Amino acid sequence: MLSLIYLSGLFASALAVEPFWNEPDTGLETYLQSTNWTEGTQPLLKDMRAIPDFDYAARQFLDDQKYSFYRTASAGEWSYRNNLEIWSKVHFRTRHLTDVTKVNETLATTILGYNFSAPIFIAPAARGAYADPDRAELNFMEASGSENTLYTAALYASKTIEELAAVKSNKTWNGPQVIFQQIYSNANLSVTWDAIARAERTGAKAIVWTIDAPATSVRHRAARYDTTNANAVTSGLTWDIYDQMKNRTKLPIIPKGISTVEDALIAIEKGVKAIYISNHGARQLDHSPSPLEIAYEIHRNAPEVFKKVEVLADSGVRYGSDVLKLLALGVKAVGLGRPFMYANCYGLGGVTKAIQLLKTEIAADAAQAGIQDIQNIPVSVLNLRALEQTVYIRESSGTN
Ligand SMILES: Cc1cc2nc3c(=O)[nH]c(=O)nc-3n(C[C@H](O)[C@H](O)[C@H](O)COP(=O)(O)O)c2cc1C
Repeated sequence: MLSLIYLSGLFASALAVEPFWNEPDTGLETYLQSTNWTEGTQPLLKDMRAIPDFDYAARQFLDDQKYSFYRTASAGEWSYRNNLEIWSKVHFRTRHLTDVTKVNETLATTILGYNFSAPIFIAPAARGAYADPDRAELNFMEASGSENTLYTAALYASKTIEELAAVKSNKTWNGPQVIFQQIYSNANLSVTWDAIARAERTGAKAIVWTIDAPATSVRHRAARYDTTNANAVTSGLTWDIYDQMKNRTKLPIIPKGISTVEDALIAIEKGVKAIYISNHGARQLDHSPSPLEIAYEIHRNAPEVFKKVEVLADSGVRYGSDVLKLLALGVKAVGLGRPFMYANCYGLGGVTKAIQLLKTEIAADAAQAGIQDIQNIPVSVLNLRALEQTVYIRESSGTN
């Protein structure tokens, strides 16, 4: 009898422990094992059916040091986990029998006045050469050009700003391809001014200024392989630097890494045209909030933000339905980092397929959710009740 009680106790605690996964089971591994595939080799691109499949495939293809740099997150990686899991707390409230037959036609959008085929973009991420040593981020440029989507190039990309500009498509919906350039502002501002000047010279249409990397971050997984942060120097990051930057360039400056309603409001006071909510894919500070929580915090406390400026967002987005949830809260376009880095292990074809998969999922899930117009999703399509307990709400607390 005692041992029965003991066993049932063990069983209950085993059930209480949730596995900490990289990607959900999409059936890929089971499927591959039924084919001629050998573990540790790259699966065929045709077998990539979901964005998370690219993570699994990259683990097979990349060596541990390179995979760890892409995959790493800060400290205990609780924010990384939260970025992936939070979506399941917000359910859809589907209104059926709405006419969704034209929803595909509403996928196209504008970002800062430029035309794009979908409200998704490739987030800035360093070291594309780990996945494709030869072509690196050229694949991001070319896939974005042919798919008419936005690419935001990273300052620490493997290819230089000039090398990327050299492969711009001239046949996009905007004519010449529109890209945004990410920069860090280091303590030595001459480096920053140089990066902005190069971005201007090569025709970037906006500066994405990363504000959530003021110092080295705690990344155990990458440290194991001595893979340091892209931005290991203590950065110069104050609103005063924004003012100086504004005096030096006519390009819109988009602060990337906004994580509170307060900072969103300051950015608006400063006159930005767009903000970028993100926790850097949970790579900077563990226990920083996911974009869904940040967007909801802004929605609850200052919903006018979404009308006054364009809001971009990233971190943990893996499905079309994730994109729709952010759009319903007022976000204009949604970025993905790791998924495109992993897809780049297949080169141009992989990156293109990842963009196409996302577009298909966004349109299909929009129809399933009774959404008629992807550019005007009523927030009532979401049940946000579960976030009430976790996000900061000014009116009710006053003190926290
Ligand atoms: C390998 C890698 C390198 C990154 N490098 C940069 C960078 O140089 N500058 C930057 O602002 N963000 C960088 N990021 C963060 C991304 O722009 C983005 O915020 C993040 O990847 C989104 O989360 P996700 O990977 O879960 O989609 C990097 C992310 C990864 C995965």
